[in-house]
Amino acid sequence: MAKRMPAIRTRLDDLDTPCLVIDRDALDRNIGRISQFLAERGVRWRPHFKSYKSVELVRRVLAAGAVGVTCAKLGEAELLADHGVSDLLIVSPLAGRAKIERLVELRERADPIVVVDHVDHIVALEHAAARGRSPIRVVIEIDLGLQRCGVLPGTAAVELAQRIGQSPGLQFEGLMGWEGHLLTIADAEEKKRRIAEALQGLAHTRDMLRKTGIPCPTISAGGTGSYQITADLGIATEIEAGGGVLMDLFYREKCGVQGLEFALSVQTTVISRPCPERAVIDAGRKTLSPDLHLPAVDGRDDLAVQWLSAEHGVLRIVRPPGPAIGDVVRLIPGYGDWTTMLHDHYFVGQNGRLVEIWPLQARGRLD
Ligand SMILES: Cc1ncc(COP(=O)(O)O)c(C=O)c1O
Repeated sequence: MAKRMPAIRTRLDDLDTPCLVIDRDALDRNIGRISQFLAERGVRWRPHFKSYKSVELVRRVLAAGAVGVTCAKLGEAELLADHGVSDLLIVSPLAGRAKIERLVELRERADPIVVVDHVDHIVALEHAAARGRSPIRVVIEIDLGLQRCGVLPGTAAVELAQRIGQSPGLQFEGLMGWEGHLLTIADAEEKKRRIAEALQGLAHTRDMLRKTGIPCPTISAGGTGSYQITADLGIATEIEAGGGVLMDLFYREKCGVQGLEFALSVQTTVISRPCPERAVIDAGRKTLSPDLHLPAVDGRDDLAVQWLSAEHGVLRIVRPPGPAIGDVVRLIPGYGDWTTMLHDHYFVGQNGRLVEIWPLQARGRLD
């Protein structure tokens, strides 16, 4: 039997649980804040789709001025292309015959930008380009110190750009970098300084490219945990901050991100009160992630999340009497990205009522 969906206008408190809830007004305010912040600095916004996984959410950020979407994986880009989104930056390098076949198909309905950090990627893309009508847009990833993908700033990147320039089927679009290792530096000044240093890798490479006569129209960087600092540096032409429109405790507490509201929550029900000190809810690790940051109970300082098992969440009663069996408890996710991926639907609320249900169409598109 298919899961029964609640009727629109149902009171949020009456939704069956556990379920993922978006506060639509808070979401729209967050979208407005990020979009305005970047617009004021003349930086384009290309939000990361990896935590949204929902076409409806993407429509909202595009309507607010986002120029396109950043995708972690080709599968996410395919899904968005199916829904008419064309300007897609795929930030994981594509490797293997199956991916290249899929890229050829994707280009029939979208204009993706793909990332490379090795000449082998370029050779594979040349094969794909030979089977399409227009050049493939390519960015080179620079390793800003995260030590994941990417070439080091400078000569290695210039050589790759020159190689791309020799391929009639490829169009060099610019550089991409991700300062993900610098998000949680507690001291605000130190964080700014370290991010500025890291972004010099992009600026330096851009300048070297220009000196060799290679224009570098795009520099893509930044995420929610760094977007204000990175945008202010005037190096990135576009910022990839995505999850901040939903917001979570990792961004607020560990990355020190201010000015964005918690628009995402997980609604749960108290299913057991085995003793005065403890309440148990119907949401554990299969519903929300405790990694990076534990979730917190929304609006209740008498309750604290103690630990999560697979299907249960254990709350400590900080101040008695605590909730009764059947009471609704909302949790603010510790990390939204690892929480949304566990769900099929966003239940979108406004003024305490359900107003929309958005499927997470890209759930499972990890390919
Ligand atoms: C390449 C890249 N850009 C940006 C981000 C930031 O995304 P968000 O703003 O959703 O945290 C990430 C996060 O892992 C990333 O890997």
